[in-house]
Amino acid sequence: MRKEKSQLPIGIFDSGIGGLTVAQAITTVLPNERLIYFGDTAHLPYGDKSTAAIQAYAVKICDLLLKQQCKLILIACNSASAAAFDLVREYVGSKAKVMNVIDPTVSYVAKTYPGKTVGLIGTKQTVNSNVYRKKIDETGQDIDLRSHATPLLAAMIEEGFFNDTISESVIHTYLSDPDLEGIEALILGCTHYPLIKKQIENFYKGAVDVLDASLIVAEQVKTYLEANNMASEKLTGDHHFYVSDFTRSFEESTRIFFKRKVNLEHYPLWE
Ligand code: DGL
Repeated sequence: MRKEKSQLPIGIFDSGIGGLTVAQAITTVLPNERLIYFGDTAHLPYGDKSTAAIQAYAVKICDLLLKQQCKLILIACNSASAAAFDLVREYVGSKAKVMNVIDPTVSYVAKTYPGKTVGLIGTKQTVNSNVYRKKIDETGQDIDLRSHATPLLAAMIEEGFFNDTISESVIHTYLSDPDLEGIEALILGCTHYPLIKKQIENFYKGAVDVLDASLIVAEQVKTYLEANNMASEKLTGDHHFYVSDFTRSFEESTRIFFKRKVNLEHYPLWE
């Protein structure tokens, strides 16, 4: 028997396990949805990869998520959202709804900060792609976007350096950059940054709104599923968390990003 669309899982992918912050937000906002998560740990980090490489990875990952009959594919990674969203959407076509982590944030910023100065931090891929700037300009809300690449932050957090003096000093150095002068809000444009949100808020002493994209994205996914009668009313079956390269250390780090340890299943997509 064909499954009701609402019963099908949501597919989420990221360069690694950082995207579990987005998965975590989805389970909070949509507790009845079953998740198929894919972390491309074999190719981590995406933030320093070329657009062409990320596009090739993303398409292959989507094949896997489509095989698992995902009703919606969420690109949880900012770098992949910047590099591959248009291509993936075209590739997937009508087989599933494709969403990314940039558009929901852009809509939120356009609504909340018209005429204001807003900052963005993220990987080199995300910042240098200029995708946020283009999309924010398209809203016509006269928002001055100031962006600064902060490539050390993701690696730092993955190594467990947050809420300590090392992270304090790195965050201080990056946020003091003249690129970010005069901002009234700051977009956390990377999967890992919700973990240092408090430290960033402390840096600004409440003078700047710090925007956690994972929550904004989860709300947008909920709105879409409900508006299209695609929301599941009951959790049926377990979530699955696949990685393209398995190490114990990745599994241990799931505690940081998902707030509890999850079992990672090795899926050798590239072998
Ligand atoms: N997931 C990536 C992002 O959100 C950060 C880690 C990486 O560079 O792969 O941009």
